[in-house]
Amino acid sequence: MDQIRIQGGRPLNGTIPISGAKNAALPLMIASLLTSDTLTLKNVPNLADTNLLARILRNHGVDCAVDGKRANNGGHIGETFHLTARDIVDARAPYDMVRRMRASFWVLGPLLARQGEATVSLPGGCAIGTRPVDLHLMGLEKLGAEMELSGGYVVAKAPKGGLRGAKIEFPMVSVGATHNVLMAAALAKGETVIENAAREPEVGDLASCLVKMGAQIEGIGTSTLHIQGADYLEGAVHTVLPDRIETGTYAMAVAAAGGDVLLEGARADLLETPISVLREAGIQIIETNRGLQISRNGAGISPVSVETEPFPGFPTDLQAQLMAFMAVSSGESKIRETIFENRFMHVQELARLGADIKIHGDTAYIHGVDELRGAEVMATDLRASVSLVIAGLIAQGETTINRVYHLDRGFERLEEKLSECGAEIERIQA
Ligand code: EPU
Repeated sequence: MDQIRIQGGRPLNGTIPISGAKNAALPLMIASLLTSDTLTLKNVPNLADTNLLARILRNHGVDCAVDGKRANNGGHIGETFHLTARDIVDARAPYDMVRRMRASFWVLGPLLARQGEATVSLPGGCAIGTRPVDLHLMGLEKLGAEMELSGGYVVAKAPKGGLRGAKIEFPMVSVGATHNVLMAAALAKGETVIENAAREPEVGDLASCLVKMGAQIEGIGTSTLHIQGADYLEGAVHTVLPDRIETGTYAMAVAAAGGDVLLEGARADLLETPISVLREAGIQIIETNRGLQISRNGAGISPVSVETEPFPGFPTDLQAQLMAFMAVSSGESKIRETIFENRFMHVQELARLGADIKIHGDTAYIHGVDELRGAEVMATDLRASVSLVIAGLIAQGETTINRVYHLDRGFERLEEKLSECGAEIERIQA
């Protein structure tokens, strides 16, 4: 298995281009199941997850053609996917595929809406909590689907005449359940109202694309979505929004390692809470017409206290990265994880590098230390892995990160982007 090796202690200076958002690209790709026309998606990041989803969609009968696009320096800057689901050839999503990526469970709603039936394995994904799918099933049942659990699969059938619009009130915010039900509702008969919908920008990106495909959706960006289902959705051309988690990750890397970096193409409006947290920690962030300029030159790091929350709160997907940064703050910081119950697996790995972190229930107490020291560590999930990269960048000496396949799920060209800014980071191919 590949490893990443970092010689830490160097500041970052230069420009990092921000890729298209993984968590927007995945549901957008799945939306191609809703139409027999071609859905063209630009700025799709080249990641293990987008490539795996393309394979899963091909299995359902989606023709998936990819145009590459190269930056001036030869680097990859996003791809254009042309997805055409002329016919659904298989409405079954097998265990072997769905277990590897939780988002592939979101094919359930679109397959059900278009085909009237779907059989989808219960999902896997990063091991960050139990992550049930009850809200997905509840929402689709409200649209008239009959669901049965059989042998680890959800077997779903739409009523005669297809799914019908309904009022759905989610008891808690779920990004995935909102995606799933939103896509199904776009092809259901009549109006669907989703209350307590996730407001994450990736949900807004999906909704905007569905509007281009012919759905009528009001309330995009709010917690109440009104969807008028269409009999038929058309093809469209849509550009995936920039990745706010990648943006926040590199912002924290610069904040931790020091230096001055332009995050090219980053959008401040997608990251208001993380930006204010970084400013509170003493980091300079300037919005420019090319992106976000992040800098810390010599100044100390002030401790912060943060709780993860659904958007627009502080994202759980930046919690591990913030913790690596706070490991070298000048005092005591506190991070409470409210979204997933098992998302502190990076703590023991950060401890190997010398971080002083104690967990009590859902809260991590971080006592800032003067320096981290390089060591061998293990990546456990996607965001935890990148927190180890940040810690490796600040640690004195050499850090080796094992199991880096987690990183490849969500960070495009990570080593290249960081080494172009002066980091000493390399991939050792096993
Ligand atoms: N939940 C339920 N029942 C459900 C669905 C969710 O109890 O039916 C719970 C979950 O267990 C969790 C909470 O609700 O405690 C929120 O989960 P949500 O459904 O919002 O998460 P998700 O859709 O599975 C997406 C992202 C995650 C991100 C979360 C929260 C994608 C592909 N995944 O997951 O991203 O952490 O929203 O913002 O969009 C990542 O990219 O590393 C990642 C894990």
